[in-house]
Amino acid sequence: MRAVIVYESVFGTTKEVAEEIAAGIHDAHPDAAVECVPVADADTDLTRTADLLVVGGPTHVGTMSSHVSRAAAHLPGMATAGREADSSGPGLRDWFHALPDAQNGTHAAAFDTRGPAEHHAGAAGGIARRLAHHHYDVLADPEGFVVDGIDGPLHRGERERARHWGAALV
Ligand SMILES: Cc1cc2nc3c(=O)[nH]c(=O)nc-3n(C[C@H](O)[C@H](O)[C@H](O)COP(=O)(O)O)c2cc1C
Repeated sequence: MRAVIVYESVFGTTKEVAEEIAAGIHDAHPDAAVECVPVADADTDLTRTADLLVVGGPTHVGTMSSHVSRAAAHLPGMATAGREADSSGPGLRDWFHALPDAQNGTHAAAFDTRGPAEHHAGAAGGIARRLAHHHYDVLADPEGFVVDGIDGPLHRGERERARHWGAALV
């Protein structure tokens, strides 16, 4: 089994979640080949050979990031935990435009990171819809993991929850 986790992360928090999900998949399936890859490096060879593709990114303005929101992440006052924004390279939106359709039976799942307010809409719904549009078999509800501030850190317990969520996918 080959699992690929593709993530977009401006401040590094979604990357942390992606790495926990990878660890969880490995917990549940020690023989699996698991790769955790930033969206800039996730080329079509990588996605074509995956049995499970997990895709996640930060929630910006209630949905997936855009060129505008990725630029806004650099505005003064955004980063209160002292992390530096990095929005170089493509975001998930552009990456999905180039994603080839899945081979039959390739499983997929979507996640995001988001602020703590209840009933927040997140990016994961849009990610899951795009995966389904590319004929991936989306096997879990879109999941959100909570951050305490714009630039993190992850809310207490979310790291463990991400690891369990990853394990449950396989
Ligand atoms: C421009 C911008 C808009 C945001 N809008 C939302 C929002 O609408 N809802 C929300 O829950 N979080 C919002 N956030 C907080 C992000 O969810 C948070 O920065 C992200 O989860 C951190 O992930 P990263 O470290 O991987 O970039 C916003 C952040 C930025 C920079």
